[in-house]
Amino acid sequence: MAVWFLVPLAYLLGSLSSAVIVSRLFHLPDPREQGSKNPGATNVLRLGGKKAAAITLLGDAGKGLVPVLLAKAFDADAISMALVGLAAFFGHLYPVFFQFKGGKGVATALGVLLGFAWAAGLAALATWIIVAFVSRISSLAALVASVLTPFYVWFLTGSEQLTGAAGVMALFLIWRHRGNIERLLQGQEARIGRKA
Ligand code: G3P
Repeated sequence: MAVWFLVPLAYLLGSLSSAVIVSRLFHLPDPREQGSKNPGATNVLRLGGKKAAAITLLGDAGKGLVPVLLAKAFDADAISMALVGLAAFFGHLYPVFFQFKGGKGVATALGVLLGFAWAAGLAALATWIIVAFVSRISSLAALVASVLTPFYVWFLTGSEQLTGAAGVMALFLIWRHRGNIERLLQGQEARIGRKA
């Protein structure tokens, strides 16, 4: 069934910045102004602690997961699911409610991937956890997971459309982490939970 109507809805949902909303609710500094200045769970962890960061993570992942699951519930084909997932992802990166200045998309991409195929999402999550555990660097974990994820999606789904969507998300994730990549190369990237 055609689920094109879900594309704008997914974009609007993706545009809700969990980091900004949670920070306001918890009376924390605006994550766009402090720390790494990224509205994401890692920066909320720096600025506000584990509880606020966990809620941010769940909110950002949820807004990627829910639209894709809705598409599935409507029996969407792979191309529709891919577009719905990308719409949520790009909502997070370029949110209409926040002057199109969004985050890096790691948690939202994870939610989208979990919606595409649980196994692919869990493989991406496991990659992130292993690299983060070893390095204590969130951005490095996200970059390694981003590069590997299109391969996971291909091997686990065999879908060109879903793999293409994972590839597009990976490219934008890497682009969004260009400042992190510079800091990583200079050995100046902050460890998880430490000030940027
Ligand atoms: O989720 C974003 C993460 O990969 C890096 O965040 O705040 O360290 O730039 P940050």
